[in-house]
Amino acid sequence: MSFTVAIDGPAASGKGTISRAIAQHFGFAHLDTGLLYRAVGKKTLTHGDSPEIATKLAQDLTPHDLNADDLRTAEVAQAASRIAVIPAVRTALVEFQKTFAKQPGGAVLDGRDIGTVICPDADVKLFVTASAQVRARRRFAELSTKDASLTPEQVLADIKLRDARDADRDVAPMIAATDAHEIDTSNMKIAEAIAAVIAIIEAAKSS
Ligand code: DC
Repeated sequence: MSFTVAIDGPAASGKGTISRAIAQHFGFAHLDTGLLYRAVGKKTLTHGDSPEIATKLAQDLTPHDLNADDLRTAEVAQAASRIAVIPAVRTALVEFQKTFAKQPGGAVLDGRDIGTVICPDADVKLFVTASAQVRARRRFAELSTKDASLTPEQVLADIKLRDARDADRDVAPMIAATDAHEIDTSNMKIAEAIAAVIAIIEAAKSS
């Protein structure tokens, strides 16, 4: 029996941490779908980012590419967001995500369009948000240990640029599904957010 949890939201909202905790708690498999876009985005930095090249790179992506080094940098995040607006790139990545979602034993996928496009029939949908300022603070704390040249202002500007691009694109924009539970983590400890999500999933499993 499959059970699918779809978790969407903007960068540094806490959705990744929540997804990993949920997967561990319930024994579900976890797919961070941002890694697919980051892996393609990273390749475009050396191969070029025309729609044709990016689409071919997406079609040729292998699970091995998701373990590449440096997928978490600010530069790769922007490249990922840029190629994510290309419809054929998204199409090339759909099947892998849909198959992952249906595996026996349950799955949690996090991204931008999981509850709306990839898993419209998910058993539980969540949209995790936080203010841009709070998210920038979190992302700065994470990235500045690896890149001393980053400034908090730059991280905030990057987050706002990516939010706008991800939410305003024509295909599969970042938006809460109408039946998603919305969780604002701006003033929450991560343990509180995880506990709230576990309660939502427990309720759905027993209904
Ligand atoms: O979740 P993330 O920050 O690692 O995602 C990087 C970029 O990939 C994000 O800015 C937009 C794109 N993305 C997407 O378009 N759809 C998804 N399901 C996941 C990520």
